Amino acid sequence: MTETEISPEEAARLDAEARSILIGNDRGGYTIPTAGLYPFQWNWDSAFAAWGFSTFDIERAWLELETMFSGQWEDGMVPHIIFHASDDGYFPGPEVWGTGRNPPTSGISQPPVAATLALKIFERNPGAGRERLRSLYPKLLSWHRWWRDRRCRDGVACITHPWESGRDNCPDWDVGMERVDGTGVGEYQRRDLDHVDASMRPRKEEYDRYLAIIQFGRAHGWDQTEIVANGPFLMADPAMTFILIRANRDLAEIAGILGGDGGEASAMADALEDGLSTIWSDEHRSHVARDLRTGDFAPSVTSAAALGPLAGVDGPAREATLQRIWNAVPFGIPSNDPGHLTFDARRYWRGPTWPVFNALAAIGLAGAGRREEEARLKAETRALIRGGGFHEYFDPTDATPCGGRDFTWTAAIWLAWASPSAGGL
Ligand code: SER
Repeated sequence: MTETEISPEEAARLDAEARSILIGNDRGGYTIPTAGLYPFQWNWDSAFAAWGFSTFDIERAWLELETMFSGQWEDGMVPHIIFHASDDGYFPGPEVWGTGRNPPTSGISQPPVAATLALKIFERNPGAGRERLRSLYPKLLSWHRWWRDRRCRDGVACITHPWESGRDNCPDWDVGMERVDGTGVGEYQRRDLDHVDASMRPRKEEYDRYLAIIQFGRAHGWDQTEIVANGPFLMADPAMTFILIRANRDLAEIAGILGGDGGEASAMADALEDGLSTIWSDEHRSHVARDLRTGDFAPSVTSAAALGPLAGVDGPAREATLQRIWNAVPFGIPSNDPGHLTFDARRYWRGPTWPVFNALAAIGLAGAGRREEEARLKAETRALIRGGGFHEYFDPTDATPCGGRDFTWTAAIWLAWASPSAGGL
């Protein structure tokens, strides 16, 4: 698609709106993803919020990351939700997770983008960031070690719950989810459907299974060894693996900035790179999610493939596959292959394009010197936000805005990447 010129007035108006979304979603030290649908602190949402704040309030950016790490467990895990304040507009809340933490948290993690974004925040203002980065560094290292020790199997990063991937209902997890028994979870009331149309959210069969996996973790006292060994779900995640490779490379750079030795982080990145053959599928000509209990690959190529460049991983076959799914739609990288029977243009991670995911892919493209593709992705993402506002995700075929509105990470990536005022990556 071609982009019409954005006037300075329109750009300034959108910048102001994005800033006011971040400020409006600020709950004091942490930022909720959007009012109503997600009323707590989410892990990778917060890292993106911090990146957005860094464009106009550097102090607030560091505080966001510090608050996120205040929920870190002793074993290094940074949970995917911190329930700082009670809110019965969300399900499942802290009583369902039953982790016994204070403040209450969930019992799974989420993609570790914090090191990558902390480095970007530092680069915006090294003077203001050096000591903040120094105190964050051991926490980041401890979290990355947790990934290595608790979530890496067969050489790659795995997830124990679809929510851990951050891409909840994408078809990557279908083969693993089929084997989860959701029939005994009992009665419950979803709250997401109070806020968003059911056609844009995961289905009941998926929610039953999401709950069954939580119930297993809770019944085993959130013993991560037991969950990985015998839990109902364990799948290798290509997006997580790419994100973790990049995060470890960035952590090694952070160590160097602080005058330390990044050898351990580099070794973690190298080991993951060596493991990538586990998730290569000749049939799909791409890295693809894989059920580690059965060896089965996921049925379709998803936007996970777009994060290869973030990890410095590319190659003609996988690049051709990525171009094929991207070229099939006019607006952004679709979260699922538009040619696959599982594609569903407005249902959360089964087809929509996500501005935040486009931004993450763009960091990879820019780092690989693929400037034309990065510019194309920016133009497509900009068009979505200009036309539909700061929504959670969009239909990639016709740009219809979907999911939650006034969304923190969409506003954040506007300010830090998609806006004309953002500067280069
Ligand atoms: N994204 C999940 C939800 O929809 C939780 O992380 O509630």
